[in-house]
Amino acid sequence: MQHAMIQLQDICRTFVVGDQEVRAMDHVSLTVRQGEYLSIMGPSGSGKSTLLNIMGLLDTPDSGTYLLEGKDVTRLQDKELASIRNRKIGFIFQFFHLIPRLTARQNIELPLLLAGVGKSERQKRSSSLLERFGLATRSHHRPEELSGGQRQRVAIARAVVTRPAVLLADEPTGNLDRESGNEIVELMEELNRDGLTLVVVTHDQNIGTRARRTIEVVDGRISLDKVVP
Ligand SMILES: Nc1ncnc2c1ncn2[C@@H]1O[C@H](COP(=O)(O)OP(=O)(O)OP(=O)(O)O)[C@@H](O)[C@H]1O
Ligand SMILES: [Mg+2]
Repeated sequence: MQHAMIQLQDICRTFVVGDQEVRAMDHVSLTVRQGEYLSIMGPSGSGKSTLLNIMGLLDTPDSGTYLLEGKDVTRLQDKELASIRNRKIGFIFQFFHLIPRLTARQNIELPLLLAGVGKSERQKRSSSLLERFGLATRSHHRPEELSGGQRQRVAIARAVVTRPAVLLADEPTGNLDRESGNEIVELMEELNRDGLTLVVVTHDQNIGTRARRTIEVVDGRISLDKVVP
């Protein structure tokens, strides 16, 4: 059995808006192993993004423990969190979150620039991903000059250019037509076959059921955890 990549133990997260309290994560425990392909499904507002944001160190729980590759990352300073996030986690979103003024290549290279990787290594890695993701002729285009599917491919390239251990995707096909959406899913699945741990939040039953393991979140709790034999 592969080692545990993500171990969440008894995680709670409550949001307070005015005098209202929303328990977005209600005592959630979940282990994701190295190389796993997990989809997270469930109704709108059930806590899927909250769960993914906690996994991706974009949000911290109020209580509970998070071990990432065995290291307790629950209560770290922002600087250390950012450093671990940059090295270990790739994140992609429904609306791509690319930097509008940068070209495809510059967007892809940005995490390497922030990590202090030198120019020739940055170019080598971005060229290889541009080629592999069918973007070689689009390297100088800015996001607004790309199709939705191309934008998401740039976003995936940017997410994996640092060679993270985990790829987390929140509704990655939510803003794409079916064909481009399928291409994105196939690309992520290819990365997973190469060993990348993959966690995908999706509303799309067709995509959700392709994963080896599916969990369903309802009212901040895991109501179903199913592995395809
Ligand atoms: N920053 C926030 N401030 C206040 N409430 C929040 C915040 N983020 C999430 N919530 C609340 O927490 C609950 C879970 O939200 P979350 O975004 O995790 O749901 P979701 O399952 O991703 O929904 P969707 O499928 O619509 O994206 C919701 O009731 C939401 O209103
Ligand atoms: Mg969401």
